[in-house]
Amino acid sequence: MTDQSSLPAAMPADHQQVVARYEHLLEITRQLNSTLDLGALLNRIVAAATELINTEQASILLLDPGTGELRFEAASNLSGSAMAAIPVPMEGSLAGWVATHGEPEMVNDARSDSRWFANVDRTIKFTTRNLLAVPMKIKNEVIGVLEVINKNGDELWTADDVYTLTTLASQAAIAVQNARLFQQSDFIAEIVHELRTPLAALRASTALLMRANIPEPRRDEMLRTMHEETERLTNMTTDFLDLARLESGRARLETHEFSVMELIEECVTVIREQANEHQIEIVIRGEDRRTDADRTKIKRVLLNLLTNAIKYNRDQGRIYCTLERRDDLTASCGLIVLIQDTGHGISAENQKHVFEKFYRVNEAESTTGTGLGLSIARRIIEAHGCEMGLASELNVGTTFYFTLPIAHAQPRREPPASAVFSRPKDPSQ
Ligand SMILES: Nc1ncnc2c1ncn2[C@@H]1O[C@H](COP(=O)(O)OP(=O)(O)O)[C@@H](O)[C@H]1O
Ligand SMILES: [Mg+2]
Repeated sequence: MTDQSSLPAAMPADHQQVVARYEHLLEITRQLNSTLDLGALLNRIVAAATELINTEQASILLLDPGTGELRFEAASNLSGSAMAAIPVPMEGSLAGWVATHGEPEMVNDARSDSRWFANVDRTIKFTTRNLLAVPMKIKNEVIGVLEVINKNGDELWTADDVYTLTTLASQAAIAVQNARLFQQSDFIAEIVHELRTPLAALRASTALLMRANIPEPRRDEMLRTMHEETERLTNMTTDFLDLARLESGRARLETHEFSVMELIEECVTVIREQANEHQIEIVIRGEDRRTDADRTKIKRVLLNLLTNAIKYNRDQGRIYCTLERRDDLTASCGLIVLIQDTGHGISAENQKHVFEKFYRVNEAESTTGTGLGLSIARRIIEAHGCEMGLASELNVGTTFYFTLPIAHAQPRREPPASAVFSRPKDPSQ
């Protein structure tokens, strides 16, 4: 299954040690193949790489099949959501070089080369001394890059390190592909399932309408149902598409600077009518701040949270929409938006699931919805490298929050530690 021809020959210094390492590698690849959860799988690969090669850190970057960009998907010493969204340039990064050339590359002493060292991301306070990166290949196609950083004891990389990591990367590539395929088939099955309910309603109504002699009021009622179900289907297809794009990493962020308060006011205007119907008062608090984000997508997040805050509120309830600067200022996401309602709240058990696809606390509730809104919202925020969460108390209310980058708080396009080493010009080019 692996492309053995591109592997360097292993040169065992100590035979027994090498055999032990391969046995360990075999055990790990067996474990990898038993996981279909992509996130968990990537974390396992990263842990396996640090363990096998004996390094301080490891990370995985996957190529986005749609855009061809490299993205951090897992890293042993970085918080997932913070780094996951940062695209790594194909030109001017070691990972990019490895992905383009499909060959391993190593640096034994980053200090001796200012070009490798100058751009290390200071915010994560990590110093790269040496690193080894290998391609993750399926047949001859590169799907990503596996990197290990800072060999313990700062020994030089050996041919055996390269061989072991390359083998792990090939096995990991196959496991990643399997997990992706599984994710896709799972999602399609869920979509089809969700489409069935509105389709069944439409079918029943049309069948009835085709009969003659249906009393006028009954006819109107059926038409109304058909209209609602069609709306629902339309919303669903939009949600499905968005989610599929976000999940596959094909959703591109078009970030620019804008006023968060203006966006909040814009969204409140959109949903004002709906709030009035239930005599729900909306209060906006906080001072204006500017962010650097994808405005259209953040609008979607806000509208979703506000709509939920109306749908799951009580009549004559309230909604507080607050914009603040975060106290625990992290460099990248220093703003926080909170949407607080006075609804029936979400139990601790249900809180664990609300961000899951298709999850609705009370399916039989009269409110319509797809159960996709929150999972889309959270993915949008995570794609910005920020976070979303909630706090809730039953019969009191719920507060959803999300963070956003402060505009120009720091250069956001700067890739994290291991990717920022600009590769010295290749003399052969
Ligand atoms: N503000 C809220 N208060 C109480 N429950 C909520 C709130 N927001 C979301 N929920 C619960 O979480 C579920 C998922 O929300 P969401 O993903 O937006 O789907 P939808 O609104 O389409 O049902 C909702 O069905 C609802 O049960
Ligand atoms: Mg919703």
